[in-house]
Amino acid sequence: MNTKLSLDFVRVTEAAAIASAKLVGRGMREEADKAAVDVMRALLGDLDIEGEVVIGEGERDEAPMLFIGEIIGNGASKVDIAVDPVEGTNLVAKGLPNAISVLAISERGGLFNAPDTYMKKLAAGPKSSGLVHIDASVKDNLEVIAGSLERSISDLTVIVLDRPRHEGLMNEIREAGARIKLISDGDTDAAIATAISGTGVHCLMGTGGAPEGVLAAAALKCLGGVFQGKLLPRNDDERRRCAEMGITDLNKVLNIDDLVKSDDVCFVATGITDGDLLKGVRFFGTGARTHSIYTNCKTHTVRFLETVHRLTAMPIFVRRD
Ligand code: FBP
Repeated sequence: MNTKLSLDFVRVTEAAAIASAKLVGRGMREEADKAAVDVMRALLGDLDIEGEVVIGEGERDEAPMLFIGEIIGNGASKVDIAVDPVEGTNLVAKGLPNAISVLAISERGGLFNAPDTYMKKLAAGPKSSGLVHIDASVKDNLEVIAGSLERSISDLTVIVLDRPRHEGLMNEIREAGARIKLISDGDTDAAIATAISGTGVHCLMGTGGAPEGVLAAAALKCLGGVFQGKLLPRNDDERRRCAEMGITDLNKVLNIDDLVKSDDVCFVATGITDGDLLKGVRFFGTGARTHSIYTNCKTHTVRFLETVHRLTAMPIFVRRD
């Protein structure tokens, strides 16, 4: 994949984040998503790629744009595209932290084609690589993470989606002695934060969306972190969708290299609202300021980009003699 496209990918999430940030806190979940989708679709369409959307806004009949299978771009470089124009639509609607706009790109065939079902997830930073396992007990995993970070379990913070289905998990984490940070939405941002020191979170546990799992895996692969998932279809229809996508063994542990097969992958996200990882979009008189992360597996780089977007022309300086 052409690394010269990197900044173009960043421009895509920046523009999508700005579009949806205009609706922060206005209770307009779908409108905020649509604003980001429209912008993302238009900018991806102009890029020098022939991208196939593998994680998108849904199936062709339910999503007019960025639907799974859509071919997008204006070039020859064949790539897979995974998008979540607004990860955390409720967060944007309510003006809550950690909403981001997300894009992952790999060479063709590099990204797992995840059905729109649930996934059990385990994410942690690079020091836990090869040490934790999604099938191990919560206590065992926390012991290993604490050891790798040279601290006690009581100094760990585990990030968990605040859902009734996680009550048992929360009890196990508390019994093991770790602290919990509950989030109302947005487990992609949360998973990535576990691999960035200084965010104050050390591990993500629990069940969330499978497509979001692939996006988090792409980021964590680039960051050298840990991600494991297990698909959890909720009904026969979702089991059928898994089978249609060639997933026969639902007990299979999906390691990072199953979810992101290629090393030629990059991940980019821009903050919409302020979060652990990224600052949200700030508007000022003549423009906006955005904060993004761009990370590339092949070049082993992680970039944080603060960008000023001048949305209107600067005033013309008039000389007075
Ligand atoms: P949306 O942005 O599509 O609303 O997803 C937000 C999210 O919180 C994800 O981060 C998470 O993986 C999933 O929803 C959890 O699903 P549920 O709300 O059904 O528990």
